[in-house]
Amino acid sequence: MIPKYTIVGGNKLKGEIILAGAKNVSTKVIIASLLADSKSVFENMPRISDVETTLFICKSLGVKYKWLDKNVLEVDPSHIKSYKIPVEYSGLNRMPILFFGPLLYRFGKAEVPTIGGCSIGARPVDLHESAYKDLGAEIEYSNHYYRIKSPKGLKGTIIKLNYPSVGATENILLGSVLAKGTTVIQNAAIEPEVEELALFLQSMGAMIYQDVNRTWIIKGVQQLHGANYKIMFDRNEFVSFACLAMANRGDILIKGVEQRYVMTFLNAARKIGANFTIYNDAIRFHNNENVKFKSIAVETDVHPGFMTDWQQPFCVVLTQANGTSIIHETVYENRLGYTDALNKMGANIQLFPECLGSKPCRFVNKDYLHSALITGPTALSGAKIEVPDLRAGFSYVIAAVIAKGKSELIGVEKIQRGYEDLKDRLQNIGAIIDETK
Ligand code: EPZ
Repeated sequence: MIPKYTIVGGNKLKGEIILAGAKNVSTKVIIASLLADSKSVFENMPRISDVETTLFICKSLGVKYKWLDKNVLEVDPSHIKSYKIPVEYSGLNRMPILFFGPLLYRFGKAEVPTIGGCSIGARPVDLHESAYKDLGAEIEYSNHYYRIKSPKGLKGTIIKLNYPSVGATENILLGSVLAKGTTVIQNAAIEPEVEELALFLQSMGAMIYQDVNRTWIIKGVQQLHGANYKIMFDRNEFVSFACLAMANRGDILIKGVEQRYVMTFLNAARKIGANFTIYNDAIRFHNNENVKFKSIAVETDVHPGFMTDWQQPFCVVLTQANGTSIIHETVYENRLGYTDALNKMGANIQLFPECLGSKPCRFVNKDYLHSALITGPTALSGAKIEVPDLRAGFSYVIAAVIAKGKSELIGVEKIQRGYEDLKDRLQNIGAIIDETK
């Protein structure tokens, strides 16, 4: 059976949420740990299906792992014996391609199936491929497999990305830490999650410098060792729960957040007139029905901009704001399709191919529906909706929690890729939610 959530809307939420470790760090550091011969131990590792999938891939290669506690994971890469990721892991998430570096280091070759992840655009991997070619590898693609080899090892070079891709930057970090000589990545991603990967690699013995103007400099070392690491909080979880609290006019204390990493989001929340209080390691969102949210224009961007993963939950908040708001999605060309279901629930959201932002983005004149006008406030009512992807899925959870009546969310396994124990955590703050598997 396909798992689903049944949510009865209308309850005011109150209580505490403790943030889990970041999905978009956890999977990457697991892969990074394969660059060593000794064990690594990770604290605050989230129990989400994307981590599980990554661990199954590792296991298929001969890596051993064990959970030492609910969120403490030990990874032992010393028994790794295969350079081929089985085809059944094709299309499940974006991780297989990040195994290029560890497998090339160990075997001088790798066979990696096509990657997947959320359907939010074409999501090509041309930047990953050309970077590895620049590092001296040969790559062929056939029958849904990348076959990559570098019998003499990778060699440092200057790589200039034509877009600061998170995954490509991480992939180059993973390949260059043990390459010969120096690698420079220009126009690189500098998201906190990328920095976390760099910090873990440094703990393993790597030499990585961050320079001005989106530049990473990596001096190759001879070998790396396992390390202990605590995964940072999940910024996307923080924003998801913050939007839930705002849209619901509830009172939720979100614990485990570091303000410095969510400044851009907090500015947007302040701009619409939402109330929040910042503590040392927590932020409380408290807005009752008397608070009238104002409309806003937001444009998604790479760090330190407003993250593309934040626009979906924020969009539901904007359905409750007075006036017309704009979301201009500039990172993915096809990440607004989820708004159809919100309209079905009563929202008033129109999509446009034009760049309705402060400046034209790289999708100008390309006919992608990447700008949204959201007019509010609109009452939402429960509906049966299918989850298209992870963040859109959370936006439907928010919509269902504030809607009148009952909603059924089908395909919630996509949400469970990135949110640990979601049903229980929502029940603990007063949501009426049930899960059928
Ligand atoms: C990461 O995806 C995250 N996923 C995404 O989160 C996040 O939305 C994204 O970064 C942006 O912050 C993981 O970390 C697992 P990109 P990634 O490479 O690395 C284009 C979530 O919900 N591009 O920065 O795949 C690409 O098409 C997920 O947790 C190329 O053109 O993102 C996109 O338009 C969804 N060629 C843009 O760059 C390439 O070779 C950004 O992609 C690579 C990317």
